[in-house]
Amino acid sequence: MILVTGGAGFIGSNFVLNWLEKRNESVLVIDALTYAGNLENLKSVENNKGFSFQQADINDQTVIENLLSKNRPRAIIHFAAESHVDRSILGPEAFIQTNINGTFRLLSCSLRYFESLTAAEKSEFRFLHVSTDEVYGSLEPEDPPFSETTPYAPNSPYSASKAASDHLVRAWHHTHGLPVLTTNCSNNYGPFQFPEKLIPLTIANALQGKALPIYGNGLNIRDWLYVVDHCEGIAAVLASGQPGEVYNIGGWNEMTNIDIVRTICRLLDAKSPQTAKAAGGRHENLIQFVKDRPGHDKRYAINATKIFNTLGWKPKETFESGIHKTIDWYLANNDWVQHVQSGDYKNWINKQYASRSA
Ligand code: NAD
Ligand code: TYD
Repeated sequence: MILVTGGAGFIGSNFVLNWLEKRNESVLVIDALTYAGNLENLKSVENNKGFSFQQADINDQTVIENLLSKNRPRAIIHFAAESHVDRSILGPEAFIQTNINGTFRLLSCSLRYFESLTAAEKSEFRFLHVSTDEVYGSLEPEDPPFSETTPYAPNSPYSASKAASDHLVRAWHHTHGLPVLTTNCSNNYGPFQFPEKLIPLTIANALQGKALPIYGNGLNIRDWLYVVDHCEGIAAVLASGQPGEVYNIGGWNEMTNIDIVRTICRLLDAKSPQTAKAAGGRHENLIQFVKDRPGHDKRYAINATKIFNTLGWKPKETFESGIHKTIDWYLANNDWVQHVQSGDYKNWINKQYASRSA
């Protein structure tokens, strides 16, 4: 079996659903169920014999050690993290706790568990650390995309905490021989993404007739990848990646934020004519340019040549096909959106956007 941390979040839950659909191997999810963790994401597999769930914090070493020795996974896929840049600006503490301390504690438990394995089990074991392209900093328009050898230059509390966790993972390999794999991926989008990130926020707000906030001039660039493609990239690295190696995963799809939002509006005009009408004919009328994010990275772009050349992975979805699937999922899952928008979500939106008037 494999153990997945953060498997009730956006990418983790997509990974678990995709894994159980395509592979004949059990999954144990451990997740602290923070605001971003949602068991509804895993509802379709709750009765699957190969699926089990344990609510736990990766900082709780006693619980993690017990889970490892009891379940004896052949791999740990580490997604658990605080993941939203804007939250890391307003409240960095949780990012240090989970992304740095939590990864350290998980590595410590994993190493102790690894050392208890037989030689044959050791040769199979992998610790796969899921990270981000944001650790490489920000690109100028003419710069080449990030490769695995681009020096680290994180700019936000989020990316700094992920960079720290990447370094810890690297050190546990070099010093202690833990067979680690690290993936650094570009921006994901798709089903089950919490509507605090650009794409699901835009879809949810447009359907609710709310403003579509664009930071600064909207010309910041991200490299967007459909989440299931990311999950398949991780599975490819787990299956055939070399321990100690880093693999960049990206969509070969750089787009400005304003183009992303306009594309979503255009597609929603056709898919949801009644909300377009309510917005004065076009969802684009809801766009509002607001105060920029402090330290806003200009451009991210991934060179995903290594993972293609060595493991044969490349994205299957184009942005066009992926964004259609994503919008259709949000249109069909309004209950999910309503549930995650109740309670604490409102407090976040007030705190985050009140001081950002147009
Ligand atoms: P998410 O915020 O949607 O989910 C994070 C999950 O981790 C949640 O289920 C949460 O409950 C859980 N969690 C948080 N703190 C925990 C703790 N202390 N112990 C146990 N569980 C805890 O995040 P996501 O977007 O799914 O990202 C998953 C991973 O992928 C993160 O490591 C992130 O840095 C990385 N990543 C994300 C993107 C992206 O575009 N979203 C891109 C590249 C890499
Ligand atoms: P986000 O989805 O938060 O991901 P990240 O910051 O990790 O790249 O943001 C994507 C881009 O969209 C980023 O340049 C910030 C911008 N953005 C907005 O313009 N408005 C918003 O309301 C949000 C949440 C993000």
